[in-house]
Amino acid sequence: MAIAKKMEEFAQNSSWIRKMFEEGARMKARYGADKVFDFSLGNPDLPPPPQFTTVLRQLAADETPGMHKYMPNGGYPAVREKMADKIGGEQEVKLDFNDIIMTCGAAGAINVTLKAILDPGDEVIILSPFFVEYKFYIDNHGGVSRVVKTAADFDLDCDAVIAAVNEHTKAIIINSPNNPTGQIYSAAKIHKLGHILEAASAKFGTIYLISDEPYRKIVFDDFTVPSIFKNYKNSIIASSFSKDLSLPGERIGFIAVNPEAEDHDSLLEAMTLANRILGFVNAPALMQRVVAELAQTSVDCGIYQRRRQLFCDILSEAGYRFQPPKGAFYIFPQSPLKDDVKFLKILQKEKILAVPGQGFGCPGYFRLAFCVEDEVIKASAAGFKRAMEGLSYKE
Ligand SMILES: Cc1ncc(COP(=O)(O)O)c(C=O)c1O
Repeated sequence: MAIAKKMEEFAQNSSWIRKMFEEGARMKARYGADKVFDFSLGNPDLPPPPQFTTVLRQLAADETPGMHKYMPNGGYPAVREKMADKIGGEQEVKLDFNDIIMTCGAAGAINVTLKAILDPGDEVIILSPFFVEYKFYIDNHGGVSRVVKTAADFDLDCDAVIAAVNEHTKAIIINSPNNPTGQIYSAAKIHKLGHILEAASAKFGTIYLISDEPYRKIVFDDFTVPSIFKNYKNSIIASSFSKDLSLPGERIGFIAVNPEAEDHDSLLEAMTLANRILGFVNAPALMQRVVAELAQTSVDCGIYQRRRQLFCDILSEAGYRFQPPKGAFYIFPQSPLKDDVKFLKILQKEKILAVPGQGFGCPGYFRLAFCVEDEVIKASAAGFKRAMEGLSYKE
């Protein structure tokens, strides 16, 4: 076999999302796309806001020489300046262009961050259920994932974090609003986490808090996402415009480093070098200039909120147990069968596709992504009901 053993192993166990995607393609070819209710992918269906097209057209027509050349590996200084204002506003902290690096999406941002901070064997705490790719990203840079469970309602379990930190801990990744649960960690919880990490850093050496927050702007009702920077100095934001501007294919994101972070300058230097030597070199030039003009813009969250309500009503009516999501575009109901994969087979008979919780390190649940048309959600109601018939939750 010519490929690396590790990649062979990864490919076999890798992604339930990919498996469901392939299953979805098979089912759509067989029954017709409109007969399949595919809730497996977190690929935003909303188009980017109209301002995106306007700005893109203007910038694409700009013939100033050098628009498509290499630039500093951290991105255009003028773009980073604008991003510093935007992210500083969200974090309620004054930021400078030097605190920002433009990246290839949030995935690029997390990989650059981990490359800059991990030595072989360093541990990174991730909270289950977790975004599937974290384990791969940590492994990419010689780190070891340490999985810590969240509470029954998927909120941060601070005691579990305290029990997990040790002399090998280098970082913790949090994701709020969360994929796959839609949970948002409150200001009080983030404040407490900041204290825990402060104490643990004093005992074991610097522990970084990496906040992966591409869904920051996709929030429902009156929920808000608290500032990370105000609550812990050794903190890093890794984010993108993949979800709030519906631009996942354009691979544009950023890192923001807390100006108070220890070793701030050397951390940013290491990240800039990581951006280069991981082969990204720099974030896409045109997209950097585009998103800098769209700081105050996002997709219409009201649409996701409406779909979330539709889905919650359908699932409640059919007897499913779930926490209504506070943000992002996922619901994570409990599977009525302990074996989530077995239950998803029942859903598949109803032509409904979801992702099993075990793909997120949380068996016994399943994820539904509601970045699909309202009609698809509505039309799936009967199938969800039939799948539940004859089943009940065992205490
Ligand atoms: C929690 C989370 N983090 C990171 C990413 C990666 O985002 P990007 O496409 O911007 O790299 C995703 C994408 O689905 C995500 O859900």
